Amino acid sequence: MPDDFNIPEGDFRGHDQQSVWAHGPDSELSEVGPGTPCGEYQRRFWMPVAMTNQVGDLPYRIRILGEDLVLFREPGEGKLGLTHLHCAHRNMSLEFGIIEPGGIRCSYHGWKYGLDGTVLETPCEPPASQVRKKACLGAYPVIEYKGLAFAYLGPSDTMPPFPVTDTFDEDGDEMLPSLIKSPCNWLQVMENAWDPFHVVYLHTLAVRSQFIDAFAEMPMIEFHNGRYGEFYTNVRRVNDIVWLRVHDHMMPSFTQNGAHFPVPDKSRYFGRCGLTRWVVPIDDTHTQVVTWRHFREGDDPNGLTDKSKVGFGSTDFYGQDPDRSYEQRQRDPGDYDAWVSQGPRNIHSRENLSFTDRGVAKVRRMLRKEIRSVAEGNPVIHPEPGPEGILGTYAGDTMLRVPLQHGRDDGAVLREISFKVAGIFKAGDEQSILSRKDYIVSALQEYEASWT
Ligand code: FES
Ligand SMILES: [Fe+2]
Repeated sequence: MPDDFNIPEGDFRGHDQQSVWAHGPDSELSEVGPGTPCGEYQRRFWMPVAMTNQVGDLPYRIRILGEDLVLFREPGEGKLGLTHLHCAHRNMSLEFGIIEPGGIRCSYHGWKYGLDGTVLETPCEPPASQVRKKACLGAYPVIEYKGLAFAYLGPSDTMPPFPVTDTFDEDGDEMLPSLIKSPCNWLQVMENAWDPFHVVYLHTLAVRSQFIDAFAEMPMIEFHNGRYGEFYTNVRRVNDIVWLRVHDHMMPSFTQNGAHFPVPDKSRYFGRCGLTRWVVPIDDTHTQVVTWRHFREGDDPNGLTDKSKVGFGSTDFYGQDPDRSYEQRQRDPGDYDAWVSQGPRNIHSRENLSFTDRGVAKVRRMLRKEIRSVAEGNPVIHPEPGPEGILGTYAGDTMLRVPLQHGRDDGAVLREISFKVAGIFKAGDEQSILSRKDYIVSALQEYEASWT
């Protein structure tokens, strides 16, 4: 028999892996349409629905949480309106509507709606018609800030205050918005931020350094819970520098991470986030990642960022969108390829979660708990801002000069530093938001000095 027909050696068990076929996606965490438990949970939060520079003089059709909507800027006071897509009369799409001062008018029979969906005019109806008083169009409140339109799509009696964090308006920080769509479920995009270990492999060792070489070092990860939310410390030693990269997470999908191109070669105290990010479900199999990229002095000493690439459909770092050839994506895959290739809706029964998936397992547990709580009629507990109305956050890069300690296990040293720095951040939570940063910086300096 020719060698070609020899059965290869090995433990082939493809057919035995029946879990690959046996189960579907996790509906509780991945279905986001109106009336679904996860969709109703997500509607308890303000979320960015669009970049405002996409809203011109015509209605802008969008889809959020499985609901078709139209966003428009009325020319009177210049405010943004967000309504159901279909006219309350006989459902013509308002993407073909006429924007007027104070609202939008349907082209079919001229019904005009205010920003809150009130029917203002029904020009084809006789004067005695009462339909104007009975009908209304679904509409949602919108807040516009630094190039993003945020909306609240939940019940009016559970609307929380708009969550303003300490990273929304810092001196010396230029913030540029971006919005990128992915053809897959929101959960797999959101979970990427809870998986710091993929930075080591996908972004550094797999092909080349997509960010910086120092990411190749396996980090020590510790999770912490502060007054304002969850954060984790991501610690590496780079020569004499102990580099702590801190990552924020507020439910359901708000995250912030450190700078994209930091250089861990000198001390840095509470450097702030490089990215503020929301993962917003469009529907069960489409997702938009909406961000502000932060540009501050000191975040990118080697000048590797390109601001001109930040905008609608793209951002300034590799692999977040599909704008590369299929071959290039195969040869040098990025985050987009990781989360989209998990499938339109990832099937968890096919996974084998491991040590490095602690963050993913944790966020799934937290999410499931909160979804069930809302389904049982409980309110969402939102983080409480201080008297200034601002929420503190933790994310960014801290670099402390702590040389190898003679006679001490360096893993133990790094772990000790992780918890001490997290403790300093949490102690900062007890300060006024105005003095919190100064407090943290000076406490970090003092702590660093204690090692020499
Ligand atoms: S369908 Fe809109 S006014 Fe008739
Ligand atoms: Fe990534």
